[in-house]
Amino acid sequence: MNRYKENLWPDRKYITTWGASGWTNDFMSYIILIYMAMISDRIPVIPPFSRSHHIDADFPVHFGDIYDVAALSESIRWPILQWSEVKNMETGEEESLGCWSAWQLVEPEPRSSWIPFVLNLDVSYTTAPDWATLRQEKTQSVWALVSLGFEAGRLESALQPAQPSPKKKVISPDEQLFCLDYIYYAGVVRRLDMFDGDYSPGWRMIGKYAKFKPSLVNLATLRLKKHFGIPRRGQLPPFIAVHMRRGDFRSWCPDEIATEECYGSLEAYGVRVQEVQAELLQKRGINVTRVLVTSNEDRESPLWDDIAARGWGYIDHNVDAEEHSLGSWLLPVLDAIFHSMSIGFVGTQESTMSLMGRLRVEQWNGGVTRSVRWGSKNADDH
Ligand SMILES: *[C@@H]1O[C@H](CO)[C@@H](O)[C@H](O)[C@H]1NC(C)=O
Repeated sequence: MNRYKENLWPDRKYITTWGASGWTNDFMSYIILIYMAMISDRIPVIPPFSRSHHIDADFPVHFGDIYDVAALSESIRWPILQWSEVKNMETGEEESLGCWSAWQLVEPEPRSSWIPFVLNLDVSYTTAPDWATLRQEKTQSVWALVSLGFEAGRLESALQPAQPSPKKKVISPDEQLFCLDYIYYAGVVRRLDMFDGDYSPGWRMIGKYAKFKPSLVNLATLRLKKHFGIPRRGQLPPFIAVHMRRGDFRSWCPDEIATEECYGSLEAYGVRVQEVQAELLQKRGINVTRVLVTSNEDRESPLWDDIAARGWGYIDHNVDAEEHSLGSWLLPVLDAIFHSMSIGFVGTQESTMSLMGRLRVEQWNGGVTRSVRWGSKNADDH
């Protein structure tokens, strides 16, 4: 298990990529990877999630630590491998690998990522050819990138020279383990469209079937029951989840706008909650009064008092995180599972965590959703 090269079947082909953003965006990249694998007859090798600014743990968390990989593989009828199955992350030897840089099509350098470091890989990149973009969108094309994994695409790429790896190795892209640095923005028709459209194949063919691990769902269910005052063996009541993404979203606000005016106000979320309640009553005939808020807002913030004053609840699961093998990863993971179990969901526009919540609530639960716009005062007025 110290060298991945010895753990791949010589007669099979594989595909991999690196995560290099927050947990949700890495999840979306890995779903795109699985799609690319399916359309190129390759086996996806999924890396751990990258270390991100949201989480202070410094150990690798694998796809299968959070999602039910066996169930996903069975639903989509496609094999799925994880890097943890082909290389030991503690004792793995340094190996070199030639990869394509898709990122360099739109940025000066290949995407930097913690993943090659944790996998002990010394990577030499070759920039993908110019034609691998959706021109009008200035983003990578999923299908054009995939064609580089075939003979014809590779010949047509008129190979640019590979760039030296950190250890000064110059290696052209590996044919057996087809590797792309960063594919989060890649689209089929337009930028970021693998999830957010009715045709989006990332969600439709794969993401929809990526369920959370049962042990985590059980933990989330227990926390929710405790929060709502329901006995362990009682039934979880229907509730509305509100995801207020704040914290680092501040950096997207124009400087001249005060932070509290840039974020959606509690009133704006309140209007959306009422809309969801009304639609649930009308469409499903249920009167949902329980509202659970999740947010990356600091626990010391006065916002939490304002939330409680509205009669909305929140769960402080720091306690669970201390004892759990996922450590601080557990916090966003439980929040995402809470979202996925709600019957009504109010998210924050532009947040991919909200986007996943919305898709799951609509399609797993037949629920009702809204999202709050922000970025200027009263941005969500409608
Ligand atoms: C919904 O439930 C709440 C709390 O029990 C109640 O005050 C309200 O009148 C109910 N609304 C409808 C439309 O039944």
